[in-house]
Amino acid sequence: MSTTWTDAVVVARHDATPRIAVFDLARADGGELWEYEPGAHIDVQPGATAPVRQYSLCGPPGLRKQYRIAVLAEPASRGGSRAMHALAEGDALRIAAPRNRFGLAPALRHRLFAGGIGITPLLSMAQALDATGGDYDLHYCARSRAEAAFAADLASHPRVTLHFDDGGPAGRLDLARDLGAPTSGVAVYVCGPGGFMDHVLGQATAMGWPESALHKERFSAAPASAGADQGQPGGFTVRLASTGAEYPVPEDQSVLDVLLANGVEAASSCGQGICGECIVRVLGGEPDHRDDVLTADERAEGLFTPCSSRSNSPILELEL
Ligand code: FES
Repeated sequence: MSTTWTDAVVVARHDATPRIAVFDLARADGGELWEYEPGAHIDVQPGATAPVRQYSLCGPPGLRKQYRIAVLAEPASRGGSRAMHALAEGDALRIAAPRNRFGLAPALRHRLFAGGIGITPLLSMAQALDATGGDYDLHYCARSRAEAAFAADLASHPRVTLHFDDGGPAGRLDLARDLGAPTSGVAVYVCGPGGFMDHVLGQATAMGWPESALHKERFSAAPASAGADQGQPGGFTVRLASTGAEYPVPEDQSVLDVLLANGVEAASSCGQGICGECIVRVLGGEPDHRDDVLTADERAEGLFTPCSSRSNSPILELEL
C-alpha cells in the first residue's frame, strides 16, 4: 500500500512555547482534507529534500479545511523538526493521508495521560470526547507551565489536571492517586517521551491494569532492553508467500531494507516499529518482535513489523 500525498500550505503558524511551534495546514488547491479519527497522525515533508516526519493531528477531528500539528524543536534533530520550525505562513510542504493506530477504544470512561508534546493526539481525543459527551479526564505533565503547549486553553477545563515538575510535589503526577486501581470499562491512553511512557505504563501494570486497557503511542522506539534476545545469529532468510522468493537478511539490515532493495512493494513510514504502517502477516517461522506498536493479541494473530522486528527461526515466511 503506497502513501497518498497532497500538496499543502502553512495557513497559520504560532509559537506555543519557545520550543513548540503550532501549524495550521490546508490543501494547496483549497480542497478538503481527509477525514480522520482522534489520535491520528500524518506524514509531513517540509521541502523536496527534507526528511519525512510523523506528527499527530491535534485540532478538532471534524475540521477538514485544515489540520493542526504541533512540532517540538529537538536539540538532537536530524533535520526534521529544524526544517519544520523554519516554515512560515504561506510556505509549501506536502502531507500524507492520516493513519491511526491510537484511536479511542470503546469504553465507558477514557483516562488520558500526556507528557510534554505527547499532548497532541490526546488533545484531539479530548476535543472529540467533549463534542460527543464522552466521559474522560486528562492529566497533562510538563516541566513547567512555560513549556506546556495549550496549557492556557486547558487550565480552566474541568476535566483537565495540569502537572508541572517545578510546581512542587503535590502538583506532580501521582498515579496511585491520579489513575488508581484497574476499573472495568475504563481505557487508559498514554503519549509522551520515552521516560514518561515507561513510568506511566510500568506503574499502571504494577497496579494491575491489563495490557488490553493500556493504549500507547511513542514518538521514538524504546531502547532495546539489556540482555534482550538478539534473534537468529548471523541473520536469517525471509520468504515471500506469493512468489516463494527468498532473500537473506543480514544482521545489520532490517527485513524492510531487504524487501525494498529487492524491489518488493512494502509500505513503511517511521522505520522504527512505532507507527504500524509496515505491518504484514507471518505465515511461517518464529518472529522476534522488536516493535512498540503491536498488541499481544496482534502478535498472537501473526502480525509483524518488517521495519524493526526480526526472526528467531532460520526462515520467516511473510504474506507478501
Ligand atoms: S514503518 Fe512504522 S512500524 Fe514499521
